[in-house]
Amino acid sequence: MIRIFSDLHWGHKASRVKELDVLESLVSGVDTVIFNGDTVEQKFEDSPAHVDHPLPSIGRLKDKIESLDSKAIFLTGNHDPEVSQAHYCTIDNGSVLITHGDAIFDAIAPWSANARILKKLVEQGLGKYHADGSNPFYDHLQVFKEASIKEHAILKDYDPTVWGKIEVFVRQAWPPNRPLKILECWENAPKKATGLMTQFGMSPDFLIIGHTHKPDISVIGGTTVINTGAFLPWPGATAVDIDSTGITVRKVMHRKGEFSLGETVKRFKKEIDLQSLETPVPKNNKIRSRADSQVFA
Ligand SMILES: [Fe+2]
Repeated sequence: MIRIFSDLHWGHKASRVKELDVLESLVSGVDTVIFNGDTVEQKFEDSPAHVDHPLPSIGRLKDKIESLDSKAIFLTGNHDPEVSQAHYCTIDNGSVLITHGDAIFDAIAPWSANARILKKLVEQGLGKYHADGSNPFYDHLQVFKEASIKEHAILKDYDPTVWGKIEVFVRQAWPPNRPLKILECWENAPKKATGLMTQFGMSPDFLIIGHTHKPDISVIGGTTVINTGAFLPWPGATAVDIDSTGITVRKVMHRKGEFSLGETVKRFKKEIDLQSLETPVPKNNKIRSRADSQVFA
C-alpha cells in the first residue's frame, strides 16, 4: 500500500510534528510513504523565531521510515525545494498524479508577503527555460523550485539591526488582505491544478496535491483533485491510501501529541497497478540537492 501525506513542515514552530516517533502509527504497515512537499522547513531555517533548532533532518526521517519497513519518497515543495530532485510521481500510467501544487499558481504562494517577488522569479525562469522535450512537465516544475530557492536566499539575507527586524515585521504583516487571498486560493486551487494538467496534455483520474493546507476533495471535469491539508493546528490533514483496489482518503487525528488515522472521508474504487509507480528525475543528475549533502543530512 502507498500512503501520501503533505505539508508536515517539520521544524516549523507551528508544526504538530515535534518528534519522529509520533509518526510511527501513521507509517507502520505501509510499503511506500510519499511525502508530497513541505515535509521539512527550509524556508525559515535561519530564523529561530519561526523554526525549532537544531534543524530537522531529512536523513533521520528517511531512516525512521525505513526502520518501520517502509520506503520513503520525498517530493519537493516550496518550503523544501531542495529536499530531493523529485517534483512529482505517477501511478497506473498517469491515471494518478501526485505533486505538491506550488506550480498551480503563477506566484507560487499568492497569499505570501513575497508573492510579487515569487511571480517575477517564476516569470524570469519561464522566460529563460528551454525544455529539451524529454519531460516538459518536470522542467516546468523545476522553474518553480528554483524560484523558491531564490526566494529563500532573499529571505535569509536579512539585516540583524533593529531596522532589519522592523522590515521583517512589516513584510510578514503584508499583504493586509492575506486572509482573503488565502480563501480565494482555497477556492481556486482545484481548477488551477487541473488547468496545469491540461497545459501539459495530461488528464489524470486523480490528482493529489497539498500546498494550500486546506483538506479538500473536488471533481473538476474528469479529475478528482484531493488536497491532503497540513500538519499544522488548523485546518488539519488527511492521508491518501492507494492499494490495488482503490483510493481511500482518511482523516489524520492528533490527540495529546500523538497521531492516528481517523475516519474514512471518501473511498474511490479503482483497479490500480501499484508496480507502476514512477518518480521522474533528470538523467544527467545535474540538479544540486541538499538531501544528498551533509548540510541537511
Ligand atoms: Fe505548506
